[in-house]
Amino acid sequence: MPLRGPREVPREKEHPVKTKKLLTGIAAASALVLALAGCSGDRTGGGAEGDTEGAIVGVSMPTQTSERWIADGDNVKASLEDLGYKVDLQYANDDISTQLSQLENMISGGAKALVIAAIDGTALTEVLDQAAAQEIPVIAYDRLINGSEHVDYYTTFDNFEVGVQQATSLVTGLGLLDESGAETGATGPFNVELFGGSPDDNNATFFWNGAMSVLEPYMESGVIVVPSGQTQFEQAAILRWDPATAQDRMDDLLTVIGGTKLDGVLSPYDGLSIGIISALTAGGYSASDLPIVTGQDAEEGSVKSIIAGEQYSTIFKDTRLLGAQAVEMVDAVLNGDEPEVNDTETYDNGEKIVPSFLLESTIVTVGNYEKVLIESGYYDKGTF
Ligand code: GAL
Repeated sequence: MPLRGPREVPREKEHPVKTKKLLTGIAAASALVLALAGCSGDRTGGGAEGDTEGAIVGVSMPTQTSERWIADGDNVKASLEDLGYKVDLQYANDDISTQLSQLENMISGGAKALVIAAIDGTALTEVLDQAAAQEIPVIAYDRLINGSEHVDYYTTFDNFEVGVQQATSLVTGLGLLDESGAETGATGPFNVELFGGSPDDNNATFFWNGAMSVLEPYMESGVIVVPSGQTQFEQAAILRWDPATAQDRMDDLLTVIGGTKLDGVLSPYDGLSIGIISALTAGGYSASDLPIVTGQDAEEGSVKSIIAGEQYSTIFKDTRLLGAQAVEMVDAVLNGDEPEVNDTETYDNGEKIVPSFLLESTIVTVGNYEKVLIESGYYDKGTF
């Protein structure tokens, strides 16, 4: 496993501010429990406080077909166990009914909190009603859960900004911006096709809207042209983020646009980029004349592709920090504490605005992957 678990990353180094807050939170909860109990505490080695010691936390992840979710699950599990929790970690094979029954089992199995990365963000209303009936708090992990008032907190990245970064790297790769981010004055026109993420994943429209905020002015001025004419999210979206579906769509697009040579492809996720690059290669592009293709998640295979000069960029989202944030939220909520949030406006799930903690992401190219991915300890040195 190339991604290091949280045990291998000193927490102070990894996330100094939040680690401090976590410790402060634990200390405060500890003091409260001691004051209430009116007795001397005997708290040993970082375990969860009071009756949370040994409490079960259900962690529901969407799929194991992508490395990132495996790392997310492992990180969250290990960090919760470090705090003395028991963890029921389940993967749902990107199948909605599997995720629902896994969540029902967690609830009936006595879970005291749920951490959920939803497959379909709109499909969990009833199961969250069941959780609420048992007073089980719910943390939405990376993907917002829509249509339920029973989502207590949300931790994710600034998803609009991720889209901005994807499109910024695309236009930089095309030569419209220089490395300092300044306009070069290039006029193209550049031929670019657009891909979106899964329409049932709330993140997908955030990524799309962020990307479009960068691309639209170039499209309006004719500097960027979408040869297929497919410029709407609904036309570009790839259900379940499936690489094979992206490959098929890219095949179809190549047929639609005939001999038109592509300069760029906006791809919102590394898995899709792999499918897209396969279709482009099969369609006659060689490694040296592939269009600028973006991505997301800094998955190992895609970073290798970037180093080989195929994929152009990806977006690094440090899942160690995301996992640590989710664990802090669980621990705070179960100890009667307020989790730290930094956004109370953006994530309206149709029933409420879910208090959120947003993390920052980073554009990765061949120019900075060593610094961002290896020096940070996210990948081991020998990985690439
Ligand atoms: C999104 C997530 C991305 C990517 C994608 C496909 O929800 O934010 O980072 O992992 O799912 O798994």
